[in-house]
Amino acid sequence: MALLAALWKLKPILSESSEIQEILKSDFGDDFYWGVATAAYQIEGASDIDGKGESVWDRFTSKKSHIKDQSNGKIAIDFYNRYESDLKLLKNLNFKNFRFSFSWSRILPDGTGKINEKGIDFYNRMIDTCLELGIEPWTVLYHWDLPQVLEDKGGWTNREIINWFSEYTDLCTRRFGDRIRHWMVLNEPASFTTLGYLSGIHAPDRTGIHKFLASVHHANLCQSEGGRIIRRNVKNSHIGTALSCSYTEPHKMTGSYQRAAQRLDVVLNRLFIEPSLGMGYPVQHLPVLEKLERYIQPQDIENLKFDFDFIGIQNYFRVVAKPSIIPYIRANRVKPQDSAEVTAMGWEVSPEGIYEIIKQFAKYPIKEIIVTENGAAFPDQLINQRIHDQQRIDFYKRYLQNVLKAKNEGINVTGYFAWTFIDNFEWAEGFRTRYGIVYNDFETQERTIKDSGYWFRDFLK
Ligand code: NOJ
Repeated sequence: MALLAALWKLKPILSESSEIQEILKSDFGDDFYWGVATAAYQIEGASDIDGKGESVWDRFTSKKSHIKDQSNGKIAIDFYNRYESDLKLLKNLNFKNFRFSFSWSRILPDGTGKINEKGIDFYNRMIDTCLELGIEPWTVLYHWDLPQVLEDKGGWTNREIINWFSEYTDLCTRRFGDRIRHWMVLNEPASFTTLGYLSGIHAPDRTGIHKFLASVHHANLCQSEGGRIIRRNVKNSHIGTALSCSYTEPHKMTGSYQRAAQRLDVVLNRLFIEPSLGMGYPVQHLPVLEKLERYIQPQDIENLKFDFDFIGIQNYFRVVAKPSIIPYIRANRVKPQDSAEVTAMGWEVSPEGIYEIIKQFAKYPIKEIIVTENGAAFPDQLINQRIHDQQRIDFYKRYLQNVLKAKNEGINVTGYFAWTFIDNFEWAEGFRTRYGIVYNDFETQERTIKDSGYWFRDFLK
């Protein structure tokens, strides 16, 4: 438990700077995808409207102590009712790509079986609005909100999830595949397995090494199976999966620190890409993975492979590692120097980290890399209808110039999605941390474009 809390919250010791250079949209090429990323539970609200079933996040947030400001996503930012004006706003900011996720329990309230046509209708209306506005929809099948009925049967720890997820994927691809080309199977499986099934900081609040390992293996199997179903059902599809990643380096250049960094690197960066490439699990650098053996069936090794069209990488901070007594992983992050610049999440601003992690991923035989999330929470203040979030603008400029550096070195980086469009429900943090380039008043649901939103509008012109 402590390890994951630490992994998520603590900041590494080294601070780094990278000077801000002016960048232009044209530097990235005409066919570069520019978008914003969102997720169903964080924006939709309407949590029990029009036949939607309960998800693990509806259940988790019903215990107020789970969320720092005791809030929940019942209304969130009411995107369910406001999608039209929000998408118009996105168009006005000159973004051409919108990433959202389907809420499984809105479409299949019981997880499998009975289809909720009203849920399907909502996504149809939303997708059609995107297309009418000239915005390309990008979807994620699973962004953490498992139907609670499936969690009651063990959720990701139950191997049956491969069948449940296949049914759901098959349905989504058949209903929406005529208009959506860009699909991502999972969002940050390393996050939902560690935070949800090892540390219990997130839904469904389960803990223990075996729950974690079982969910890792089943998520990997769903990741590849989902890819195969999309390829079968969607013509001309562009298929990816979205992986969290943090460049990880040892605090000292000695053996024990280097090995600690390797172990963290496995958990943070390698657990979901290597099996998909047919490399198996990196047991050699994280011995606890030997315990996965009891979950692996003979045909699995082959089934774990899938030839993704692109890999989405989601990067926020880098990690500096040290050995620790924490069980199994025996590594932890080093606290940052006081002088380090950190976000409202306590994450170190480390723009060169995105360059390093893109380079690390580019060593794998993958065709295309897209930054499917990057952004920052800062304490925004609404004064006279303006939010002067210069710190966020600088963040974006510095990270983008590092993405560009990797691209200019010949790495096939083809897109960038800012996290996020409008301030929303930030999981266990609630509404306290604001990531948007558009400010939201959570009482009135009034949207106000932040300076960073205007910056993107002008940059993307
Ligand atoms: C990762 C997740 O995909 C997203 O849901 C979350 O809000 C951001 N990163 C920021 O923490």
